[in-house]
Amino acid sequence: MPGAIVTGWGIAVPDKIVTNDDLSATLDTNDAWITERTGIKQRHIGGTTSELAILAGRQALERAGRTGPEIDLLVLATTTADAVVPGTSATVQDALGLGGGAFDLNAACSGFVYALVVAHGMVLAGARRVLVIGSDTLSRITDWDDRSLAVIVGDGAGAVVLEATDGPGQLLSWDLGADGSLRHLLKCDTGGYLFMNGREIFRHAVRAVVDSSLAALDRAGMEPSDVDVFVPHQANARIIAAARERLGIPEERCVVTIDRYGNTSSASVPLALADGLETGLIRPGGRVLLSGFGGGMTWASAVLQWGG
Ligand code: ACO
Repeated sequence: MPGAIVTGWGIAVPDKIVTNDDLSATLDTNDAWITERTGIKQRHIGGTTSELAILAGRQALERAGRTGPEIDLLVLATTTADAVVPGTSATVQDALGLGGGAFDLNAACSGFVYALVVAHGMVLAGARRVLVIGSDTLSRITDWDDRSLAVIVGDGAGAVVLEATDGPGQLLSWDLGADGSLRHLLKCDTGGYLFMNGREIFRHAVRAVVDSSLAALDRAGMEPSDVDVFVPHQANARIIAAARERLGIPEERCVVTIDRYGNTSSASVPLALADGLETGLIRPGGRVLLSGFGGGMTWASAVLQWGG
């Protein structure tokens, strides 16, 4: 059976940087609280979901040495679509001149890992090249007077090109999950602002990341000690640390970008993945564990052997 490997990746964040001190000027908060409770120092704010997705997608295509028409499918993970209709994927498909189908996928902050797993499945079903993008502009659905949310959100996008390969490919195993009975913990009604029960999300998030990671690793016949690089969703540095410690993965094997980007929802895992690649932490043959959680609640993990 043919597998798939990532042949290119790209990221995009808005130019505008908002620091904790900037937020403290208008909100009852401060750099010390935000740093200690979340690990965030700054976030990029601005743009639209499609604009960021197009920039990240273009970079990923260039790095893969591919042109738009060579792509068979676009899977765009987002929870902040530009409009209700059409899907944001339509705007991205047009701008990049992509061939094949294009659709949006909304699994909140788990979206990119969901999309990556779906894309691998589409390669098994015959697609030769799939562009997978996670793009979100949470700033557009944030009440900037709500300090509990304003301090954690950021905007951004990350993309990968996934291509069919003759060998078994890079995806060793995956775990996708959802519990819709918890949907009240994180929600945004149409036209409204994001609402979050931070403490409850925190509690469920650590368990979801640990259980989902262990399930995926088990299916790959692996233990946490076999993981070379852990790429978790970046929602809160304390959630990342708690999950990492429970899994027993050393700090130096974990990618952390939340200090620079905040919580960028669907963009968080691909931004962290790109960071791991650019710093050389992720190397060919390395075993990479991706794990995300988010509204729904949803969770998703994937174990990859980088480069197949
Ligand atoms: N600045 C200063 N003080 C604050 C702030 C702030 N920005 N926000 C809350 N506080 C205060 C509270 O009022 C409270 O004060 P009190 O003790 O006098 O009542 C105190 O700080 C502690 O509040 P908690 O809500 O218990 O703070 P906590 O340590 O839980 O941190 C946070 C809040 C950062 C939101 C955390 O709960 C969290 O990260 N939760 C998970 C977020 C998450 O993962 N979301 C999912 C993805 S988000 C998405 O999909 C959009």
